[in-house]
Amino acid sequence: MTSASPWIPVALSADIEAGTSAGTLVNGEERVVWRDDKGTIHVWEDRCPHRGMRMSFGFVRGDHIACLYHGWRYDTGGQCRYIPAHPDLEVPQTIKVPTFAATERAGIVWMAAEGADAAELSALPETAEPVRSLFLDMTTEAAISAVASTLPESYSVSATSAATVTLQGYGTTVLIAVQPRDADRTALHMTVTGDILTATRRSLALWATDLRNRVESQMMEAA
Ligand code: FES
Repeated sequence: MTSASPWIPVALSADIEAGTSAGTLVNGEERVVWRDDKGTIHVWEDRCPHRGMRMSFGFVRGDHIACLYHGWRYDTGGQCRYIPAHPDLEVPQTIKVPTFAATERAGIVWMAAEGADAAELSALPETAEPVRSLFLDMTTEAAISAVASTLPESYSVSATSAATVTLQGYGTTVLIAVQPRDADRTALHMTVTGDILTATRRSLALWATDLRNRVESQMMEAA
C-alpha cells in the first residue's frame, strides 16, 4: 500500500458484529460502520436524511438499518425503502444516505470514496487476529511517533505509510492502522498475524494500554 492510498481504517472487524452498528469520526466527519446479517460491512454518512438522527443509533434488521427516530428503513445501498408513517408510499429515490466504499483486510474495516479499488490493500494480509483499538487525543503524526518511540520489547518497525505502521517480532507481524478522527484525535487499530500465542497477543494488548497511559501522563505533565 502506498501513502497515496485512499483507504482509511475505521474499526477492528471483530468489534462490528453482524447486526450491529457503531458511530465513528473520520477527519472530523461522523460515519456509521455497520454489518448486515449476511456479514457484509457498510460505511455511511452517520445522518438520517429525514431529521438528521445518527444512523449509528438505529437498529440493524437483516439487510436493512432502521433509524431510531421515526423508523425509516434503509437498504444496503443507503436507499430508503420504507417509511412507517406512510406504509403504502413508494419512497422517492432521492431519499438516500450518502455511502462510501467499505472493505475488510487484515482484521480491519477500511473506507474510501465510492469507486475506490480494494486491490490497493492487497499487500496486507487477508485476515488477522485483533489486538485492540486505542483512542488518543493527539494528531496522527504524534500518534505514529509515540508508537515508534515505545515499541513492544523485541519488536521493530518494518514499514510505515500514511495509514499504517507495521512491526515485526517473535515471528509475528503487528499492523497498526491509523485513523484520523479529527485534527487532534487519532484511533489506532491493531491486529497481528503469524505465530500467535495467546500470551503474545495479551502482551501486545498490555503494551497498547501502557502506550495510552504513557501518552496521557505525558500530556498531563505538559499541560
Ligand atoms: S430522523 Fe430518521 S427517521 Fe426521522
